Amino acid sequence: MYILAIETSCDETSISVVQDTACENRILSLVTRSQVKEHQGYGGVVPELAARAHLTNIEPIFNQAITQSGITLKEIDAIAVTAGPGLIGGVLVGVMLAKSLSISLNKPLYGINHLEGHALTARLSHDTPYPYLLLLTSGGHCMFVEVLGFRQYKLLGQTLDDAAGECFDKIAKLLNFDFPGGPALEKKAALGEHKRFTFPMPLKHSAEPNFSFSGLKTAVKLEIERNTIDEQSACDIAASFQFTVGEIFKERTSKALEYSKHKAERLVMAGGVAANQYLRGILKQLCEGRNIEAIFPPMHLCTDNAAMIGWAAIEAIQNYVPPTEIDFQPKPRWPLREIKI
Ligand code: KG4
Ligand code: ZN
Repeated sequence: MYILAIETSCDETSISVVQDTACENRILSLVTRSQVKEHQGYGGVVPELAARAHLTNIEPIFNQAITQSGITLKEIDAIAVTAGPGLIGGVLVGVMLAKSLSISLNKPLYGINHLEGHALTARLSHDTPYPYLLLLTSGGHCMFVEVLGFRQYKLLGQTLDDAAGECFDKIAKLLNFDFPGGPALEKKAALGEHKRFTFPMPLKHSAEPNFSFSGLKTAVKLEIERNTIDEQSACDIAASFQFTVGEIFKERTSKALEYSKHKAERLVMAGGVAANQYLRGILKQLCEGRNIEAIFPPMHLCTDNAAMIGWAAIEAIQNYVPPTEIDFQPKPRWPLREIKI
């Protein structure tokens, strides 16, 4: 089974051909273009510019993805596309292409929830068996989900305000680091002293495994305003902030493991922030101490990509989920619990 998958929900235009074979060769092609140039000057993703860039780039990316896959359009069995949640202008670009392909090739169409794509990535990359505890941490989301089976997602806790990725991006912007902020901040943090500044850990020890990052973001902002920020101070603030996020992840993950009714044997980290090597190390250490397997998808599958969308469609097909109606409406907001079989 060959799936052509499209992802355009934020600032990555990504198209992939995936197949339902052994783990090592599932991804026949994956072409992803990040819109770094478009948003650099603004220090954040501008939705209107993102939608336009998807529109400009999607055709060449589609052609590259098909060529690299080594198969022809006729051989494609189904089309998968991110149908939300995300920036609606971008989602629409992907959905329009997916609908056109579905009609012209007469192939079934699967509208996939972007969060489900992240949630199942470890199954694409590692064949991770169900059940597992998922820490999904990206630019828009930060949550613990018990993934008990396909479309059996139990939300244990989530951020009450900002997402961790958003915090990385905002602080990177305040420190004049390159765009995108998350990876740039990680590089600078490696050159800094994490003990120089002490930042708060909101919700520390609170009973439910929720997150809160807005107080941390404000504390870092105030520290930046209080100091003259030379090169070294910027690195020290980055290191102290990243260290605090690590401590928060450690404490909150311990809480989620206690809170979960199913004794987790596996912890999966997914979403863009899971590309952070320091944070991976922290969670790996935590799991080693508790005899839990820690699973991290490769970095290019942690950040937004179409292969995870194609894989979610493969699981949908394997679970006899009927194709999505051709006239479906994309959803800017679409919580995991509202996915219907
Ligand atoms: O999953 P993703 O690509 O898009 C969303 O669905 O949001 O996640 C993007 C987020 C951004 O906030 C980005 O700064 C963050 O993931 N990110 C990182 C790193 N790489 C990406 N955050 C910290 N360290 C990184 N290395
Ligand atoms: Zn994402």
